[in-house]
Amino acid sequence: MRILVTGGAGYIGSHTVLSLQEAGHEVVVIDNLVNSSEESLRRVAELSGTPLTFRLVDLVDEAAVDAVFTEYPVDAVIHFAGLKAVGESVREPLMYYHNNLVGTLNLLRAMDRHGVRSIVFSSSATVYGEHNPIPYVEKMEIGANNPYGRTKEQIEDILADLGAADGRWHIALLRYFNPVGAHPSGRIGEDPQGIPNNLVPFIAQVAVGRREKLMVFGGDYDTPDGTCLRDYIHVVDLAEGHVAALDHVAGRAGVFRWNLGSGKGSSVLEVLHSFEKAAGRPIPYELTGRRAGDLPAFWADAASALADLSWSTTRTVDEMCADHWCWQKNNPHGYNALGAPHMTE
Ligand code: NAD
Ligand code: WQD
Repeated sequence: MRILVTGGAGYIGSHTVLSLQEAGHEVVVIDNLVNSSEESLRRVAELSGTPLTFRLVDLVDEAAVDAVFTEYPVDAVIHFAGLKAVGESVREPLMYYHNNLVGTLNLLRAMDRHGVRSIVFSSSATVYGEHNPIPYVEKMEIGANNPYGRTKEQIEDILADLGAADGRWHIALLRYFNPVGAHPSGRIGEDPQGIPNNLVPFIAQVAVGRREKLMVFGGDYDTPDGTCLRDYIHVVDLAEGHVAALDHVAGRAGVFRWNLGSGKGSSVLEVLHSFEKAAGRPIPYELTGRRAGDLPAFWADAASALADLSWSTTRTVDEMCADHWCWQKNNPHGYNALGAPHMTE
């Protein structure tokens, strides 16, 4: 199939583009590069040995989005493009609602006009909110507790309404847990701008000497070692989950929801120690206060994806840390070829 990938230059997108190419699909990427670099796509093409098409397009520009569908007839869309930082979304809700919702509406309207009615959407475990028991199951009522998460919930609602109104749509809503790691080649990986918000990118920058120490947010949770538990998933497992979901929905109309996680929780300190093993060096850290909005523990019930897609995670936290470290040590300043620090550092 020929697949349009929005946000394909980003972290999860670039790994998924590679998996799609490896599965024999042709790929067209659109991205505005607000949080990524075209270099990721150059490296994806180098790894796969297969060219891909890239168009610099902002999804909020409806005419530009439409023009892509005119130029490239595609069979399906995987929609990653969006802003994703929870804290920033609290400070800048209008920016998040505008970018994520308007961008998605422009995309869906263009798809409808061009008769492309298969979509795989990047949702998030954050939609489960704080009221659900763990593990999270797809049929639970959702209710995000921050603007970023609400954009995901609202887009899920839009897609569910669309599927209910028009039986020609094939829709997969994928709720990712905590993606970490990198392609084992060390050529592509996560390249956060400024101070990383997420645990593993922060640890990686401490390990490589860009930051002094990790601040562990809360050591007094009701968990085995007092730190929060999360369901970490290797980004290559996640990428392969998209290929499986795409194959499944391509043949079936309807709206499908799948958790993409391992079904197992790991603590902050377990991840830290696993990264120390991978890097072969101690990683300084300090226990500090809890971060606002953090939940003590959550992980996926991963049974539906296994039953429906024959997909489950195969890579361990140790492999996530080893591959993340390989990427970080080979690219200490990410895709920035000059090795200069980012402007915001
Ligand atoms: P990322 O920032 O690396 O990738 C997102 C891409 O979208 C970037 O390349 C960015 O430049 C692009 N983009 C943003 N707004 C755009 C617009 N208006 N037009 C065109 N391109 C635009 O993030 P990621 O970690 O790869 O996440 C991909 C998707 O998965 C996002 O939708 C994110 O919300 C979702 N998600 C991520 C995580 C995570 O922890 N990384 C977890 C759950 C869900
Ligand atoms: C993991 C654990 C922190 C940084 C976020 C989003 C979620 C989803 C995935 C997009 C927590 C602790 C972290 C640090 C720390 N993204 N931590 N020191 O918060 O589970 O999920 O990313 O959809 O929506 O909220 O991931 O990596 O930020 O944190 O101690 O410097 O690591 O407190 O327990 P989180 P995270």
